[in-house]
Order: sequence, then C-alpha cells, then structure tokens
Amino acid sequence: MAGAYDDRDGKIWMDGKLVEWREANIHILTHALHYASSVFEGERCYSGKIFKGHEHSLRLIESARLLDMQSPYTADEIDRAKEEVLEANGFKDAYVRAVMWRGSGEDMGVSARRNPVRMAVAAWEWGSYYGEAKWQGAKLDIAKWKRPSPETIPTAAKAAGLYMICTMSKHAAEEKGCSDALFMDWEGYVAEATGANIFFVKDGEVHTPLADRFLNGITRQTVIQMLKDNGTAVHERRIKPEELESFQECFLTGTAAEVTPVGQIGDWHFQVGDTTRKIAGDYEKLVRS
Ligand SMILES: Cc1ncc(COP(=O)(O)O)c(C=O)c1O
Repeated sequence: MAGAYDDRDGKIWMDGKLVEWREANIHILTHALHYASSVFEGERCYSGKIFKGHEHSLRLIESARLLDMQSPYTADEIDRAKEEVLEANGFKDAYVRAVMWRGSGEDMGVSARRNPVRMAVAAWEWGSYYGEAKWQGAKLDIAKWKRPSPETIPTAAKAAGLYMICTMSKHAAEEKGCSDALFMDWEGYVAEATGANIFFVKDGEVHTPLADRFLNGITRQTVIQMLKDNGTAVHERRIKPEELESFQECFLTGTAAEVTPVGQIGDWHFQVGDTTRKIAGDYEKLVRS
C-alpha cells in the first residue's frame, strides 16, 4: 500500500543505477536544498508509453542549462533511465518524476562549481490531478503572488525555485475550497496556474496567454496544435484579467492536469462547454494512441 513518498516499496534510479526506494537519499548539505539549484520534469506514462518522453528529457537538460548546470546525461540516456524505472516497478500507467540537482561537494555557499550535478528518476501510480473537481469544472482562486519577469529569474526553466510561490498560492487556494490558483504576471496580465497553463474560449475561438514569461507547457503546445488541426482559431496574446468576464469556457492544460475544465475563477463563472469537452476527449485519445 502506498504510504509517505519516502516510505514505499520499489526502485528509484539514482546517478546511473537503480536503488531501493527507501535508500534513494541525499545528504543534508546538498546545494539544491539550500539554494534551489534543482530542475525537474513531470511526465505521464499511458499503457506503458511515456507521452512525449523525449521532449521532457530535452526540456530537463535545457532547464539545467538555464540554471548554469551541465546535464551529465544525454536525452537518450535519460529516456532509458525512465524506461528502467517503469520496468523495475512494473508500472504501465504512472507519473514519472525526473530531477536534476547540484549535490553536496567541496562548495557549500552560493557558488557551487565544484559540486556534482546529480540526477534521479522516480515513478508512481497517480490518478486525476484535480480529483472529482475535474469534470465539474475546477474552482480557481486568484493568487496574491505574481509570475516574475524573465529578467528576474529564468522563467522558461522548470526549476524548483519557481515553485515556491506556487506552493504558497495553492495552500491559500485550498483553504478557500478551491483546487488551484491563477497567477497574473508582474505586469498584471493573466499568466498560468500553479502547475498548468490556461486557455479560454469565446464564440468557438480559443485564447491563451503568450508563453514568453512562464513555462510553455508540452501539453499546451500539443493542445494548440490539435486545436489548429481541427480548424479552431487559437489566439496567443496578452490577456487582461477584466477580459475574463467575456469568456464562455476555460480549461487548464498540463501533464498532471491533462485537459481540466475550469468552472470558476474568483467571481467569474464558466461553462464546461463543447470546445473544452472535445479537446479534453481528443487529448485523452492522443495520449493513449
Ligand atoms: C508552472 C507550470 N506551468 C505549466 C505546466 C504545464 O507543463 P506541461 O504541459 O509540460 O506539463 C506545468 C507542469 O509541468 C507547470 O508546473
């Protein structure tokens, strides 16, 4: 039976080999723990195949590069590590978490050039990210924090440090009975949720914030392509919060969230309409194809 995440049976890939789940540990003087020098990926395996697994491996390497870390592994080697983990644990439908970080070494200050870059891959069986809320339309709070400018932090990286305000905002949202929070960016435009990108529908056309200041999700890119292939107009543009009133539908996209309809953001309400249902169904078919 699944217990705390550090107390389970199974295998985790760590620095090139499979180790017992409970022995996949790091030292307290790990650089990443103190200075957030860590990047990661969230991926889903459907019926034994990771959806866009290679793209995720490439993004992991790129996130590391953006944090001035050289990946010790190629994308093909990372692909193989993920396969090994899934096979060793006997998982066919699972969430896969790859993480790369600056370890413990000769440096224990801000500078960490002499510390090794390390990597691990774990996987676990995981259901719908928003649980029951998914089909009723998730309820989102509006985060008090703003997504930062790309001049402040490398916003294109899937890096641990960018999630500090996500955890805080998600806790605040859950306290209000919401399943997630929507961030505005530092200029006040609509940005993304704490672990997913956002889309809106108006008169059959789709609008989504330009992803030049937050993670351009692999699911986001997939969904935009699918919509375009279906002949649906997609407008990637700056969206002001006051426009939310004019949208009829809203949905989130992400590896964990998949395509999740949104029913409410703050005081704005949305219907779980045809465009959302269709794209959610098409995405489900695609990931299992
Ligand atoms: C902050 C944030 N934005 C967007 C996404 C969606 O990205 P993807 O579709 O690549 O999972 C995620 C999930 O990884 C995320 O954590």
